[in-house]
Amino acid sequence: MCGIVGYIGRRPAAPILLDGLEKLEYRGYDSAGIAVRDGNGPVAVVKAQGRLRVLSDKTDHGKAIAGNCGIGHTRWATHGEPTETNAHPHVSETVTGIHNGIIENYQELKDKLTKNGYVFYSDTDTEVAIKLIDYYYKKYAHTPVDAINHAMVRIRGSYAFALLFNDYPEEIYVARKDSPMIIGEGEGEHYLASDVPAILKYTRSVYYIGNLEIGRLTADSLTFYNLDGDEIQKEKKEIEWDAAAAERGGFEHYMMKEIHEQPTAVRDTLHSLAHGDHIDLSEVGLTDEDLRSFSQICIVACGSAWHVGMVCKYVMEDLARIPVQVDLASEFRYRRPILDQNALVIIISQSGETADSLAALRLSKQMGIRTLAIVNVVGSSIAREADMVLYTVAGPEIAVATTKAYSAQLIAGYCLAIQLGLARGELTEERYTELIRELDTLPGKIERILEDKERLQWFASKQVAAKDIFYIGRGIDYAISLEGSLKAKEISYIHSEAYAAGELKHGTISLLEEGTLVIGILTQQELFEKTVSNLVECKSRGAYLMGLTVNGHYEIEDTVSFAVYIPKTDDHFMASLAVIPLQLLGYYISVGRGLDVDKPRNLAKSVTVE
Ligand code: F6R
Repeated sequence: MCGIVGYIGRRPAAPILLDGLEKLEYRGYDSAGIAVRDGNGPVAVVKAQGRLRVLSDKTDHGKAIAGNCGIGHTRWATHGEPTETNAHPHVSETVTGIHNGIIENYQELKDKLTKNGYVFYSDTDTEVAIKLIDYYYKKYAHTPVDAINHAMVRIRGSYAFALLFNDYPEEIYVARKDSPMIIGEGEGEHYLASDVPAILKYTRSVYYIGNLEIGRLTADSLTFYNLDGDEIQKEKKEIEWDAAAAERGGFEHYMMKEIHEQPTAVRDTLHSLAHGDHIDLSEVGLTDEDLRSFSQICIVACGSAWHVGMVCKYVMEDLARIPVQVDLASEFRYRRPILDQNALVIIISQSGETADSLAALRLSKQMGIRTLAIVNVVGSSIAREADMVLYTVAGPEIAVATTKAYSAQLIAGYCLAIQLGLARGELTEERYTELIRELDTLPGKIERILEDKERLQWFASKQVAAKDIFYIGRGIDYAISLEGSLKAKEISYIHSEAYAAGELKHGTISLLEEGTLVIGILTQQELFEKTVSNLVECKSRGAYLMGLTVNGHYEIEDTVSFAVYIPKTDDHFMASLAVIPLQLLGYYISVGRGLDVDKPRNLAKSVTVE
């Protein structure tokens, strides 16, 4: 949440900052601001409430502000309303700065600073942090690094700071703890950003700044320091993502582009793990012996990644006969979980920065349990801290509502399940090969579903005024319902619930009114008739029904008013196909309601606060 960028070099900084912020707007869009410095001149700060375009108009797309050194911020409000005063950058006598994260002890620090004569103009924790750095700079420290170090020792919480010191023109200082930041290197220039897409157009050479580390950027040099102020060496990494991947590429919205990238994301993730008829987890660090040694699996994640976990539970338990529990990271971290020492904890996260998932990972490690991260963003905090990493190959995901990362995570989960099944003697070689070959057919089947998207567009156009939508299913179909329902509510703002079909009549069915849309997911052969019966129960209470099932099950049309068919695949992999029409439905309803599909209200893509 919140995106930060910085540039120092020989080119005008402001347009580069605005361009980078545009790529990071998915991280927050309550307000935006930039601070730019022209040589030894004063730091110019411009801020605007609302979307980035307001700031862009205010600065004539950055052309109105001269200078080759600057920092920029796009905000998802935590402390203080989304006003211009609360927008970053925040300024003190000696330092101007921006921040992503949360300062937990900001009130205590604010009181201390107030006693020392400081006056605060905003309600933000960031202004407190900037003034604390100013305080240490003036009181004890002789260098920016000293001042930042002093402040870091006092601050509790998470942060990625970018700072301009008045006495040090042509330098940017950065520091981080638990909030993401990368440093990019160009020819005679350096960049900083919360996430790769912001700088991908300019460079692919990056440094990952670690927790409790400080960086000093000039046009021609980069220096890193630890908390003691000692210089440290860091390794340069190359980002493999293609620059075009972070652009809209002719689609009206990133979400639609990313929906269409799913065949590629699925294929690339699969081929990174399966070679021919075999799955190879050696790069992840998992041997068949390891897979045999686990007594249980605990999957921990948030939101859609948790929904992936729910699908994986059904698939892993069935194919490998290993007990799998799925936890919400925000619950896991505070309930003293009981896990066997031979358990495997799997953290699933697109961004690799979700605060609760990161905390759950740390807790598992403290408990001495082995951890595996399924992550999309290379070098992210979760990827770096987990014992083992399995990278999904979905490329940058910009739309706030996840689509292709979800699909790539499913594939990673299937591969693990299949290999677990073989290693633990639950799958024959023949069945193992058959399942891997079936996985290979999924990208083509997703393409076929996408070819038929106009039918969903038509259906969605009839649903724009819906008040409630219920998604019901059993087993894997219930897990699919969870994701379908989230897609609907988060981008179309229609109240929606996902229910295990058999559970509806234990209370929730009383919410159904004449015409309420109920969507039945019926991809599991053995459960088809059971869910049909539940749909009939809804229909007899006035519900309007849509059914999502597999080609051939045309009898569904006797029950539902609108049927959607998906190609056949193994029942275990149905989520990969069934989710596509549900994503499209959410997308088209949102567009039909005239909403901002890529940046839904109140949300941010990377949830770095708990
Ligand atoms: C919903 C969505 C969120 C994320 C959740 C976890 O479309 O994108 O529910 O799945 O915030 O984020 P990551 O995967 O980055 O940990």
